[in-house]
Amino acid sequence: MKLWSGRFTAKSDRLTEDFNASIAVDSRMYRQDIQGSIAHARMLAKQGIITEGEKDQIIRGLMEILIEIEAGKLEFTVEAEDVHMNIETFLTQKIGDVGKKLHTARSRNDQVALDVRLYLRDEIKEVRELILNLQQVLLDMAGDHLETIMPGYTHMQKAQPLSLAHHLLAYFEMLRRDLDRLDDCHKRMDYMPLGSGALAGTGFNLDRDYVRQQLEFTHITGNSLDAVSDRDFALEFCSFASIMMMHLSRFSEELILWSSEEFSFVEMDDAFSTGSSIMPQKKNPDLAELVRGKTGRVYGDLITLLTIMKSLPLAYNKDMQEDKEALFDAIDTVKKCLLVFAPMLQTARFNTANMAAAARGGFTNATDLADYLAEKGLPFRDAHAVVGKAVLYCIEKSKMLEEVSLEEYQNFSPLIEDDIFSYLDVKACLERRRVPGGPAPERVSEALEEASRWLRGMLSE
Ligand code: ARG
Repeated sequence: MKLWSGRFTAKSDRLTEDFNASIAVDSRMYRQDIQGSIAHARMLAKQGIITEGEKDQIIRGLMEILIEIEAGKLEFTVEAEDVHMNIETFLTQKIGDVGKKLHTARSRNDQVALDVRLYLRDEIKEVRELILNLQQVLLDMAGDHLETIMPGYTHMQKAQPLSLAHHLLAYFEMLRRDLDRLDDCHKRMDYMPLGSGALAGTGFNLDRDYVRQQLEFTHITGNSLDAVSDRDFALEFCSFASIMMMHLSRFSEELILWSSEEFSFVEMDDAFSTGSSIMPQKKNPDLAELVRGKTGRVYGDLITLLTIMKSLPLAYNKDMQEDKEALFDAIDTVKKCLLVFAPMLQTARFNTANMAAAARGGFTNATDLADYLAEKGLPFRDAHAVVGKAVLYCIEKSKMLEEVSLEEYQNFSPLIEDDIFSYLDVKACLERRRVPGGPAPERVSEALEEASRWLRGMLSE
């Protein structure tokens, strides 16, 4: 029998039951549902709404249900619709009529608003750890590659020399912002909604703050109508997740490109690569490709949620039941991607010789030649034009800028002297970029120290 069947005279059609049920998706919140119910029962007893004895029976029943669910001894049913009513049904089966008192002064609307928050809060902790772990991998690798020169690109054309450490730390910074966004999501989710009832609160004399304390929230929600209709926290998580996946996807794209024979900057470990069923020679960076692909999935989850919410009148509407599938998919996908990304990166072998050779080609030191002339007093615009001509000359003669003789250079500008050759060395080009935030090894090692200190702080929180 349905918990809400009083005003009905006929049974639900089987199709209605299947279509309406969310148990297949929301059963994973059983722990949070029980946690919330225990806090609610304690508060009901404290306020004299149920007796101490009734509270003890309810809590004991709920604890046993928790153990039985975890031992696989209880089976959720579609008849009981969702995780909330499944657990309430188990409770009443176990302890009889007292179980029916648990739902006093509570609605599934404030209950689900609580459960999703509790669930997401637990998951945020895990996602946080996974991000910090990946950041640690980036730092360790960057420490090994302060002097590894590689070309930096704009428009996918060689631009200026960089170090691999600087490149890796760029991703560290992205993840640092991602973590900040995740913490922000948690901050705005840290409001306890129970007591909001279906939409208009309750006439029972509840102690909402007592529930808040038990469940370790910082605040209680301030408006019952908003509290049961708000899914901003799920949206914020999916926004965080989308942005973070976009970062992992860009990194994946680079690793995929760098794994090609044309680049040959990196080789993924066999343990994190796959082969082809027809082409025996193949070793493919499938994991990075999947991370790139799954990014689309997480964007989809965000769009799903935004679209579900966009035209819902206040307060709860059943459309909102669809929120969990998208939210859970985003959580699962982000966790899977972070979990595989860290060891995939950690075991990748960089071909530093190829990177350095690539950095020497493509006139990555052309800006430096212009800077050299500008330092000698030529206005930068004019220096730019002179170097443009020199590059054109080099292309015609199939030379690099450092292979042009001093005599030849003096035809381009008499300001060029024989110190130009050491000036144009890519290593010197890198070392000169000592501006704060720049790629000079001494700056990058400072950045690395700052990042390590920050990470240690985060890990000890
Ligand atoms: N399973 C529902 C959900 O996830 C719980 C809330 C149901 N509330 C209601 N008034 N039907 O949204």
